[in-house]
Amino acid sequence: MTASSDQPTPMTFTAAPALSGSVTVPGDKSISHRSLMLSALAVGESRVEGLLEGEDVLSTAAAMRAMGADIGKDDEGIWHIHGVGVGGLLQPETALDMGNSGTSTRLLMGLVASHGITATFIGDASLSKRPMARVTEPLSRMGASFTTSPGERLPLTMRGACPAVPLDYRLPVASAQVKSAILLAGLNAPGITRVVEPIPTRDHSERMLKGFGADLDVEVEADGTRIITLKGEAELRPQSITVPGDPSSAAFPMVAALLVPGSRVTITNVGLNTTRAGLVDLLREMGGNIVIENPREVGGEPVGDLVITASALKGVEPDPARAPSMIDEYPVAFIAAAFAEGRSTFRGLEELRVKESDRIATMATGLRAIGVTVEELEDGIAIEGSGGALLPGGGPIATKLDHRIAMSFAVAGLLSKNGVTIDDMRPVATSFPGFIALLQSLGAMI
Ligand code: S3P
Repeated sequence: MTASSDQPTPMTFTAAPALSGSVTVPGDKSISHRSLMLSALAVGESRVEGLLEGEDVLSTAAAMRAMGADIGKDDEGIWHIHGVGVGGLLQPETALDMGNSGTSTRLLMGLVASHGITATFIGDASLSKRPMARVTEPLSRMGASFTTSPGERLPLTMRGACPAVPLDYRLPVASAQVKSAILLAGLNAPGITRVVEPIPTRDHSERMLKGFGADLDVEVEADGTRIITLKGEAELRPQSITVPGDPSSAAFPMVAALLVPGSRVTITNVGLNTTRAGLVDLLREMGGNIVIENPREVGGEPVGDLVITASALKGVEPDPARAPSMIDEYPVAFIAAAFAEGRSTFRGLEELRVKESDRIATMATGLRAIGVTVEELEDGIAIEGSGGALLPGGGPIATKLDHRIAMSFAVAGLLSKNGVTIDDMRPVATSFPGFIALLQSLGAMI
């Protein structure tokens, strides 16, 4: 299950005995990307502990190196980054290979937009299908220019503008990637860049930019709209960062522990930023027994230890307004719904159609293949739950180069009569190295 393997790696997951134990998940992917990018823009040495060493983050590291940052890891696993300063990024000599990573692509496009350099972005088959107009449009207004593949997709070449024009922008889509791309571009634009966010999305960029010393302000209006203002030509100061565990990775053992009868699992050091913790709330509403112990702060982010006890779940109809707070967790939430009592209906999820795969279609097809009755909706899915009974299983499930599809059906396999076969587990390495070993350490037999 490594990037070097060019053949699909199928795997079968079978019914598991009660899961038990205490585990830690790898570092948060969103925070890891931003740690490397912001450190690369600070003058001096930053240290990062707990960086996620998944392929997506390594794509960001390679790109920042190609643009001048000095990035290395010491014997204790601490990453050291010597930055070039805001405005100091160098022209990369070859195309920036973003692999499977939409976050690397869109945030780095923001960085390049306000530097006087030209960069070409390439990616895998999944990334090359994803829409980039959501970033090329605002970044063009800041002065960047683009030559893209049809449909504003990768491969694309962009020329940054220096000086760039600061932007005042209302987000047309609830996307932390778009917000972050604009803020990162604004770092090197003279004047005030302002992003208006009608629906709040993950706020790691805002927290971390402030932590690095940028002059950034967030105002929240009565209706919840957030207005973020950033003063450009910022000077960032190097930082020491500790990356908390990724709640999006914790989601898989969390749902597995709730579903497999008799389980009791602790997941330590999980990030619980409210802009990310929507799945915990949803699973509790479904009847899940999840207790947060030792709430604390790590690296400016709320963190806790989750104690999860197997529970009978009931169907839900979650409010679409909570989508951004669990946007990456829907695939595994659909698995939880497949074992709940009654029908669950998820709506307002158009954004899922443009993730690493079309997650509504990919999940609907996979769920049917393992014996679940589902109705695919334009903007969501309705799922008939088994009431806790094992599902027949089956496969091979087509994961479409989507790590979260692979891990979601792995969890379903732990509750199947005949096992669930996944066509390719390699994409898991993009975000969750050690996923299989973690499940095995809890007692799963794979
Ligand atoms: C991310 C934002 C989300 C999320 C992605 C990571 C980020 O994407 O799905 O995995 O780190 O900013 P969108 O902003 O496109 O919703």
